[in-house]
Amino acid sequence: MSNAVNFNIDGLKATVEGKEILKGVTLNIKGGEVHAVMGPNGTGKSTLASALMGHPKYEVTAGSVTLNGEDVLEMEVDERARAGLFLAMQYPSEISGVTNSDFLRSAINARRGEGNEISLIKFIRQMESKMKELEMNPEFAHRYLNEGFSGGEKKRNEILQMMLLDPRLVILDEVDSGLDIDALRIVAQGINASRSEDRGFLIITHYQRLLDYIKPDFVHVMMQGRIVKSGGPELAERLESDGYDWIKEELGIVDETVGQEA
Ligand SMILES: Nc1ncnc2c1ncn2[C@@H]1O[C@H](COP(=O)(O)OP(=O)(O)OP(=O)(O)O)[C@@H](O)[C@H]1O
Ligand SMILES: [Mg+2]
Repeated sequence: MSNAVNFNIDGLKATVEGKEILKGVTLNIKGGEVHAVMGPNGTGKSTLASALMGHPKYEVTAGSVTLNGEDVLEMEVDERARAGLFLAMQYPSEISGVTNSDFLRSAINARRGEGNEISLIKFIRQMESKMKELEMNPEFAHRYLNEGFSGGEKKRNEILQMMLLDPRLVILDEVDSGLDIDALRIVAQGINASRSEDRGFLIITHYQRLLDYIKPDFVHVMMQGRIVKSGGPELAERLESDGYDWIKEELGIVDETVGQEA
């Protein structure tokens, strides 16, 4: 059986509370590829991530999303996870009363499907080995999910989930924010170790420094709900030194707020 991944977003439009945020996003991600998405605040990057995962707040009004030809937009959130979509959220939620290890085990079992559950021994062995790789204190297995975790601890925990779930398409939304210098390196190593031909990555970030560790194949710039420019790693380097104004000038993009000035 081929493990090839072909994730295709075509002309995706989405609204939040009646306001159009995504205005036609087109992007193709294949297995083995890392795509970085950068862009100013409030341009729709997290909205894209949420819409792809099927968050009910975001209404898709046009376009298509397919994973290996299967219609993702038709799927419920849990079906998307089972199909292999994974999102590390910009702001991971806390769930009181559910331990991290219980959460991880049910997430793995949901992904594997009924009748194919992971044995407890195997689960614990995998969890402990991945936690070690991420240099996480073993006590985090028994704490309630994200409750009282520091910002950086939450981010590391998201990567632990990713490593255990073996997804086909990984979306990481600002996974580098809040990480200290050592944690950034450890998390990046975890992500690099997960790179493979049967997995594609969409990495949303503001800073070149993450991309120093995780070399992207493609870098895309998102503005006003669209991908307005794509290139290689050199594009991220240019953004780091020059910001976004040159792209706006090149493309004749006018800030929405500018029009409101007297
Ligand atoms: N649930 C929501 N209710 C109202 N507005 C929303 C909601 N979600 C997103 N928006 C609006 O959509 C726009 C895009 O938000 P989004 O979070 O996608 O931006 P972003 O590109 O991820 O920004 P950042 O770089 O700051 O994380 C913003 O103006 C935001 O206020
Ligand atoms: Mg965001």
